[in-house]
Amino acid sequence: MRYDTIIIGSGIAGLYAAINIPKTQKVLLINKRESFKCNSFYAQGGIALSKDEEDIALHIKDTKDAGAGLCDDEAVDILTKYSKEAINDLINRGFEFDKNDDGELAYTKEAAHSTSRILHAGGDATGRYMHHFLLSQNPHPMLGDTRVVDLLIKDGECYGVTVLEHRELRNIYAKNVIIASGGVGSLYEYHTNAPTISADMQGLCILKGIELENMEMMQFHPTVYVNNSYAQKLLLTEALRGEGATIEDEEGRRFLFDYDERGELASRDIVSKSIFDYSQKTGSKIYLNMGNFEYQFFIKRFPNIFNTLKNLGFNAPAQRIPISPAFHYAIGGIKTDSKGLVPNVKNLYAIGEVASTRVHGANRLASNSLLEGLVFALRTVNDILSKKDDSKNKIFLEFEVLDEVMSLKTDKVKKNELREIMWKNVSIVRSKKGLNGALSQVNVILKGNIGKLLKFRLLTAREIILAALARRESVGVHTIIEE
Ligand code: SIN
Repeated sequence: MRYDTIIIGSGIAGLYAAINIPKTQKVLLINKRESFKCNSFYAQGGIALSKDEEDIALHIKDTKDAGAGLCDDEAVDILTKYSKEAINDLINRGFEFDKNDDGELAYTKEAAHSTSRILHAGGDATGRYMHHFLLSQNPHPMLGDTRVVDLLIKDGECYGVTVLEHRELRNIYAKNVIIASGGVGSLYEYHTNAPTISADMQGLCILKGIELENMEMMQFHPTVYVNNSYAQKLLLTEALRGEGATIEDEEGRRFLFDYDERGELASRDIVSKSIFDYSQKTGSKIYLNMGNFEYQFFIKRFPNIFNTLKNLGFNAPAQRIPISPAFHYAIGGIKTDSKGLVPNVKNLYAIGEVASTRVHGANRLASNSLLEGLVFALRTVNDILSKKDDSKNKIFLEFEVLDEVMSLKTDKVKKNELREIMWKNVSIVRSKKGLNGALSQVNVILKGNIGKLLKFRLLTAREIILAALARRESVGVHTIIEE
């Protein structure tokens, strides 16, 4: 069977692309595990939009200010201009965002937004609700527990993928391939990402000579509870601070004002860096204080955070919660144009967190990522659907299935070693010495006997380190010190 389009990953970007391709087309979504094991599912805060014509200019300014001068003008224009259309499309399809007591859409605010322009659903479960809704709208088949381990590319054209399914390798052919597989969370010891998010497609692109860009731009979320026993740490949404929660030291002092006059509402890069610096200098533990919230309101507005914290033994919102920054979002990724096309590889697209559209610059504005997923997914689909179908006259290539070793028993220890290397040396504040040390360590593991899946992670980690070494000045999420 040859498909019209293969979509790798079914987070918000992948699913929104799928539901915009008519059922008459042969589309296949491929998931590494269950479809909900994606980053979109865990998005709490919401989805930003430019509420009206006037807000477009303001939303552009906020996005670019947060992006510290490195946002691409065209990409930001596209994101904001088409934001309302994307949200209205969801609403018209039947999706319900939270409403206020007057039955109007309830907008919240998050750090570095100059106005309340973020919609949410299920209180603090926006990603989960959107994901579930899009899944229910998807008319196309899905292949679960299946990993894409190769891209079938010849002479600058993509013909499909090789998958690993129940330990068997096989090729699946398609006229178009959309990569929507998410970020790189599992490269770091502390992260908020779904457990499946492990930089596979980024690493595969490196192997295939496909360009990644801005890989030094890795975003750390400032308010994460990291003392749980899972690799995925507990995100405490920025909407908490947007609605009044504060960050304080052991003595209850709101030290963030020492760093930025906006305090808790400074952009995410500044808050994370300030927490890191303050705790290094003072040795103080850092806390999120949610005492501003009335108990019943908190339960209704943040039900999942309330329950998760309760299960961990915390009495929220009265009790303050120990927090740390943790890895959250890959700004850099597979280089694409404004329609999601990967340059130099015909019929290959990337959308969502795995892609670099340059919309986020050096620091992503909160809640712009679900929006990016929707807006750029639709552009990709429009590009695919507008192409002239030349398949009748075309010779399709068949590729040999390469028999490669995917994983070895010893890889697990090396994966954990990599997480520690990345957290210690390639996180919030980087030094040249630390980066060079990390590079040597990663190269040593890469030269050893390893499976292809671990190789993907290592190649991506190496790309992040090399990009961090190449950018000599600190900007946005990338802070580098001479040492
Ligand atoms: C959050 O809810 O704080 C995360 C939102 C985002 O990453 O944009």
